[in-house]
Formats: sequence, structure tokens, C-alpha cells
Amino acid sequence: MSDTLKHDPKLSVEIAGIRFKNPVIGASGTFGYGLEFAELIDLNKIGGFVTKGLSAKPLPGNPPARIVETHGGMLNAIGLQNIGARAFIEEKLPKLRGYDTQIIANVFGYSDDEYLEAITILNDGEGISAYELNISCPNVKEGGIVIGNSPDAAARLTERAKRASSRPLIVKLSPNVTDVTVLARAIVRAGADSLSLINTIVGMSVDVIKRRPRLNYGTGGLSGPAIRPIAVRMVYEVAKAVDVPIIGIGGIASPTDALEFIIAGAAAIQIGTANYYDPQVTVKVVEGLSEYCRDQQFSGIGDLIGSISLD
Ligand SMILES: Cc1cc2nc3c(=O)[nH]c(=O)nc-3n(C[C@H](O)[C@H](O)[C@H](O)COP(=O)(O)O)c2cc1C
Repeated sequence: MSDTLKHDPKLSVEIAGIRFKNPVIGASGTFGYGLEFAELIDLNKIGGFVTKGLSAKPLPGNPPARIVETHGGMLNAIGLQNIGARAFIEEKLPKLRGYDTQIIANVFGYSDDEYLEAITILNDGEGISAYELNISCPNVKEGGIVIGNSPDAAARLTERAKRASSRPLIVKLSPNVTDVTVLARAIVRAGADSLSLINTIVGMSVDVIKRRPRLNYGTGGLSGPAIRPIAVRMVYEVAKAVDVPIIGIGGIASPTDALEFIIAGAAAIQIGTANYYDPQVTVKVVEGLSEYCRDQQFSGIGDLIGSISLD
């Protein structure tokens, strides 16, 4: 711990055969289609980003109010509004190809067949690095969490999605379960190349004057710093239970937050809600990770992944 590190620390990580220049990834639904952030940060500086959830056909989402601020976070019930997989390929992807960062397409459907349809369309999209299967959205009445809360349904869809996909498959887990490792094991057995977690936690907020839920949908998904300790605990449990790389998500807003997940077992992390109040946060976290490795004399992120000690 004496001399400072002579070389730049190695921030790159490999997940499902894809090399990320650093472990910092913009999270689905909070990073638009990437292009929105190209005006706010240098996209070449982050490891990658995940698109908004893409479905085979465009979706309008839920009626407002769709977002409510809460202590240390927010509740959303957007309902997966998106332009559709084909429009993403035609309108967004050509402009994104100019950036040196990994593009992960988040995939959604109301049934197994609709997920597969979206994947089949996206297979045509040149420049997509991997798929993230969203089986954990709490804000829709079919698909999403309905599949993600059943190990059998989740495994069946994972197996079919893996077969349909021409790219590595990351499956995004729901935290709204009693034991997340049961799902994780079933999904990995079914062929997932990597797992990302967590999606939002189902919550509710009440307008006491109207005596109605503040979200039109009733309930919503809680995200932001308030959920971080739950997410770190789940990443820790899942990393011990399976042997595929884990991507940690939930309330990350600083380099220290990201390090908590990496030390608990994540090979990479995603940043969601924090992008809303600090659009530069992803780049700041990359810089902070580099500084930490230098100060603490680690040659790279690889030395830190799962390095937690319980002694
Ligand atoms: C407004 C909003 C929209 C989201 N949309 C999606 C989505 O389309 N697909 C998905 O898998 N996750 C979606 N998420 C979940 C995030 O990607 C992330 O898992 C969650 O917010 C926890 O991370 P955070 O606390 O850093 O925001 C959304 C989150 C928010 C706040």
C-alpha cells in the first residue's frame, strides 16, 4: 500500500464474451436509446448502455401520472412505452454505431412469443452486442414480472430466447421474490449467459387529500438510493449461487456505491435513476473507479470482483 500504482488500472471486464472497456453501463429505461445522452456525456467513455425496453410492436405505456418522487428514490409506472424493435434498428442504431461503447438491447413482450418476435427482429440490427431480457417489469399486467416470478416460466422463456438469439443473453431478475437464488439458478440452468439485478421493487404512494394512489397505475417500481442495500444483498446471494457473470443494479450514484456491488460479486454495474439528477454520473463513476484502484494499489477491477471478506 506504499507507492502509487505505476500503470493505469485495468478497468475492462468481460461478460458473456463481450469486452466492456469499463464496468459502467447506463440502465434500461433511464438512458433513453443512448442518443439522448450523447449530447450530455462522451458515450465513448462508458462501458456500455442498455436501451429502453424494446417490444416487437411500439407501445404507448400507461396513462399519467407515471412518476412520483419518494424519499431517496422514485416510483415509476411508465409501462414500457417504446418505439418498437424495428424502429430502433432503423432510426436509432445507425447513429449509435459511430460510438465505441457496447449497446445492449433490453427486450420485452406480453407473452413468450412476443419476446421471441422482438429478438428475431433485433437479430437484424448490426451493432447490438447483447440482449437483456426484461422478465422483471412490475408495471404491466402480462409478461414482465408475471414470468420473472415463476422459476418454471422464467426458465422456459430463457431457453427459447437463447435459441432464438444470435447474441449473448443477459436475463434481468426481479427483486420481488422471496428467494432470488431459486430464480437465478433456474435461469442459468436454462442457458442465460449472464444475470443482471435488480429491477425495481413494487411500491405504492398515496395522495392523502384525494385518498387515491399517486400513480395512475396504482403501484409502481421503486428505484434510486433507497433500494441499494437490498440490491447489494441480492447480488451477493446470486453471485454465490451461480457461476455466470453478474451485473449489479440498484441505487448506484457514486464510485463507492458501484464498488459495493463489485466487491459483493458483480462483474459490472448499471446506473439508472441517478442519471436523472446527474447526467454525468456514469462518467464520474468510471473516473472514481480508476482512482480507487490506483489509491488502493489494485491492478484492475478484476481483482475486486467478489473480493468481499466475511472474516
Ligand atoms: C423510469 C424508469 C424506466 C425503466 N424502464 C425499464 C425498462 O424498460 N426495462 C428494464 O429492464 N428496466 C427498466 N427500469 C429499471 C432500471 O433499469 C433499474 O433496474 C432500476 O431502476 C434500479 O436501478 P436504479 O436504482 O439505479 O434506477 C426502469 C427504471 C426507471 C426508473
